[in-house]
Amino acid sequence: MTELDDIKARLDILEVVSSYVPMQRSGRSYKANCPFHQEKTPSFFVFPDRQSWRCFGACATGGDLFSFVMRAENLDFPEALRRLAQRAGVALTSGGRRGEQQSLYQINEAARRVFQERLASAQGASTLAYLVQRGLTPETISKFELGLSPIDGQALRQQLMQEGFTLEQLLLAGLVRQNEQGQHRDLFRGRLIIPIRNTRGELAGFGGRAMVSDGPGSQPKYLNSPRSPVFDKGRILYALNQAKDAVREPGIVVVEGYMDAIMAHQHGFANVVASMGVAITGYQVAEARRLTNRVILVLDPDAAGQQATFRKILETLSPFLQPRNTGQAGAINILQQPDMPEVNVALMPDGLDPDEVIRRSPEEWSKLLAEAMPMLDYFFSALSARLDLTTPQGKAQLAEMMFPLISAVPQAAQQDHYFQLLAKRMGISEETLRASVGRPTASTNNRMGRGTVRTSPRQATESAFARLDRDPVEDYCLALLLQHSELRAALQPGEAQIAGAPSYASLLRQEYFLRVENREIFNHLALATPENAPALVLAALQGKIDPELTEHLEALLHKTLPPQDPQHRRSALEEVARRLEDRYLRSLKAEESLKFGEPSPESPDLLEEFQQEVLDLNQRIKMNQSRPRQVGGLEPKLSAPKLSARG
Ligand code: UTP
Ligand code: MN
Repeated sequence: MTELDDIKARLDILEVVSSYVPMQRSGRSYKANCPFHQEKTPSFFVFPDRQSWRCFGACATGGDLFSFVMRAENLDFPEALRRLAQRAGVALTSGGRRGEQQSLYQINEAARRVFQERLASAQGASTLAYLVQRGLTPETISKFELGLSPIDGQALRQQLMQEGFTLEQLLLAGLVRQNEQGQHRDLFRGRLIIPIRNTRGELAGFGGRAMVSDGPGSQPKYLNSPRSPVFDKGRILYALNQAKDAVREPGIVVVEGYMDAIMAHQHGFANVVASMGVAITGYQVAEARRLTNRVILVLDPDAAGQQATFRKILETLSPFLQPRNTGQAGAINILQQPDMPEVNVALMPDGLDPDEVIRRSPEEWSKLLAEAMPMLDYFFSALSARLDLTTPQGKAQLAEMMFPLISAVPQAAQQDHYFQLLAKRMGISEETLRASVGRPTASTNNRMGRGTVRTSPRQATESAFARLDRDPVEDYCLALLLQHSELRAALQPGEAQIAGAPSYASLLRQEYFLRVENREIFNHLALATPENAPALVLAALQGKIDPELTEHLEALLHKTLPPQDPQHRRSALEEVARRLEDRYLRSLKAEESLKFGEPSPESPDLLEEFQQEVLDLNQRIKMNQSRPRQVGGLEPKLSAPKLSARG
């Protein structure tokens, strides 16, 4: 049993949640007004059976004990673990690792003192003058703990070893390196030092800027601490420890450079952090998301128009578009699948760093931030300007890049708006667009005979299934599509289709796939060209989908399917699509009755019933496979009641 299981076994989620919000019984579950958003009627539920919680309202999110405490207390996972371990009376054995981390923080603090003393000494005079000339005040220099590293490459190591630290610790912290001749040298030599603290304020590492006076030999411009057990550039936002109390309302502003963040803080813009020169990562966004719902990315217009920038931002947001479910400890999105924050983009005037803009005119800086546009609007205009939307390729590219982003928009009305925009830009009707890619919510409402806008079923239904290792129905469906190009061809809407052949564009929709990775693969398939051979499809998908999914994709491509002729394959696909649709409609119904508290057999436990159904089906598929001579689709249909007529 892991520590995590142990803690979960000893604590009751209902009891823990009740210490934050009074819960009211509702059948087998408990409800309350959601503690994470404003509401008048309760849409926040705790399910003691499953030891889970979920908000069916604006948050449209849920999880376990840990994700609840993380959210309620704004903690990261290790902190939540510690907190709950204490509450449960479980001793954490990871104390050893923690001990190593503590000693690294200590050694970094010791190094910081050396650097700060050096800057204040006679040797620091020219560096200090440089900082003053750049407009930094003495208060800022001390608030950000700026320092200077000794230039000889020896002094730091000598001093820290005198203080009792071991060479091994110095190497682990990355403060000392061994060169090819086997000599030990300080990493930072004669550099302006910028200490980098994590969100909790622990000293994780350093950035070191070459000083002009060092001449051309002092490349690169910035050296940063190497990765260590406490430092990972992709996981820390510089200055977030200073900014965290100021970000909730205005949102978090992400600039690239240390100097930009420091200058912003000096001018009272306390919500600014730096991504340290690399594109902000999904991990960093998740961290920001715990503090605020709004992220403003500051881009320079050069980079802003480039494809690489889109790719990076897409990559960054991928955890929100496709939460992963591999069992990697500490990966944020397993434990908590945060909703995507509102992301805005602010463009700097040509060639200027935020640092320079702020110094020139703080008002101009405020104005640029106020004019930040929603990321999707920015993508639309930048992509439309760059792609040739008169060609099918241009249109396909636009759809391909925009679709995952639009799908991740949590508000149905906004999502609709962007779908309309996309259809308009592509010069096709919304119907055609919907048919080609499926739509997470609105179209389903119509089919269910309800006109009201509802929250996406995406988050609400996937969790129960996420606990199953695989979803055989979805896998079967995708394997069919991946392995048979004629079925893929039938997925394409309208023009792309061979005359007379049936179209499945209306048969399969992305929302039927509850597992995010399957949904992702399906979306790519729906956009792929029909004549691509599986190998090409794989190659194309591999470049696009998360690397963690390629293994799954390969398994699907090589999944053994019962031999069938094209005719039977088509009926198999139709059958499996119907099954997926049924399941989807029933989950909607279950969610709906739960939300409105109807006493009905379609209780949330239905989800468990679905799981059983999936398992049964798994059996059936296995049976089918073990009887290779049998042709035809799946075994006779399960007795799932139909909830609505198929459209
Ligand atoms: P910049 O070159 O824009 O630096 O790189 P800056 O922060 O504006 O510094 P000044 O104004 O020239 O003094 C932006 C960020 O990219 C990272 C650093 O985090 C830097 O703050 N970077 C840059 C590196 O890590 N290594 C480099 O060689 C360059
Ligand atoms: Mn700069």
